[in-house]
Amino acid sequence: MRIGVPKEIKRFEHRIAITPDGVRAMKAAGHTVYIEKGAGIGADIPDEAFSRAGATLLDSHAELFALSDMVFKVKEPLPEEFELFREGQILFAYLHLAADKRLACMLVEKGVTAVGFETVQLPDGHLPLLEPMSEVAGRLAVQEGAKYLEKTYGGRGVLLSGIPGVARAQVVILGGGTVGRNAAKIAVGMGARVTVMDVRKSILQHFDDLYGVKIETLASTPENIERCLAGADLVIGAVLIPGASAPRLISRAHLKGMRKGAVIVDVAVDQGGCCETTHPTYHDDPIFLVDGIVHYCVANMPGAVPVTSTWGLAQVTLPYALALAEKGIKAAVDDRAILSGVNAHRGHITHATVARSIGLPCKELAATDL
Ligand SMILES: NC(=O)c1ccc[n+]([C@@H]2O[C@H](COP(=O)([O-])OP(=O)(O)OC[C@H]3O[C@@H](n4cnc5c(N)ncnc54)[C@H](O)[C@@H]3O)[C@@H](O)[C@H]2O)c1
Repeated sequence: MRIGVPKEIKRFEHRIAITPDGVRAMKAAGHTVYIEKGAGIGADIPDEAFSRAGATLLDSHAELFALSDMVFKVKEPLPEEFELFREGQILFAYLHLAADKRLACMLVEKGVTAVGFETVQLPDGHLPLLEPMSEVAGRLAVQEGAKYLEKTYGGRGVLLSGIPGVARAQVVILGGGTVGRNAAKIAVGMGARVTVMDVRKSILQHFDDLYGVKIETLASTPENIERCLAGADLVIGAVLIPGASAPRLISRAHLKGMRKGAVIVDVAVDQGGCCETTHPTYHDDPIFLVDGIVHYCVANMPGAVPVTSTWGLAQVTLPYALALAEKGIKAAVDDRAILSGVNAHRGHITHATVARSIGLPCKELAATDL
């Protein structure tokens, strides 16, 4: 198969979907790999490293799309890329269609087979291709939150750790999955007081076993959320219902009850956000204020640390990319995780939760369709 890895065009997105090791593995399996010139520079991978590994470098974004049977990229295609897709082409990337009906419609109209990293799900519910980026985003959320708590940025002017004799800051984490777990680890490490809320008791039990009295765990109920928001310095939105829009846990009215200068890092912004006042922002202008509350809502947080993120992501996506390259969409017959990753195929949305979220009809895939 001909695999095309374009340069990401989203603002301040410097990750690339493949590393030279991945190119070598693709070549060893008999595939052709096209890489757009300069696509790896932001992740500190020069063109020569890719050509040494056997990739063919191309100057043109459009030519790369035209030559590829599978477009393997990191972020969802942007509108200026829509016309480059064609019927039957495979797209393997983060898609987040629940927050992007326009993209979903394009994939349906063009008959693209789109496999979304974020819905590739193992039988135990695990999301292996979301995990490393959620690890990055969770850790980064505390780092960014700590920065925007500084007065210069409109924050409360508190130090997460406090100092001897002065109270530590209160960090509230909504959702104790991968983002929440990683945020908690860093927040505890930085000396903050940490509360984690989730709807699943088993998640809270895990935090309790791991951290004991260093972390407070609370059921995610409207009353608990309202009370915790009122006392929070930093709130991290880390909830997810796979494939669906993020549940709206923080309303505009809640902001009025919060401390002025508190910070909300809504990591779930890529699924629409868990805060009513969230809208996506970019790394060059990441925050805005609503009712005195600082909102940080960057939808591609791992793009800020593209070296770490590229290597973290590429190592987990490669086995799936190799399977798709070898068998095409028939890879989904052998691997239910890939099947759950198929969001669109032959002119239909094929993921029930995604379809429900954006109000499009769903035609779930059967092995006979593939
Ligand atoms: N902005 C970014 O750059 C970026 C990067 C990575 C991940 N994300 C997003 O972060 C979000 C979290 O990802 P994750 O990998 O941690 O997911 P996850 O599935 O590991 O964890 C989500 C957690 O949310 C919990 N949850 C669901 N509904 C809840 C509710 N009403 N109240 C409290 N908890 C609830 C679930 O029980 C689960 O434990 C996703 O939307 C993901 O796409 C964003």
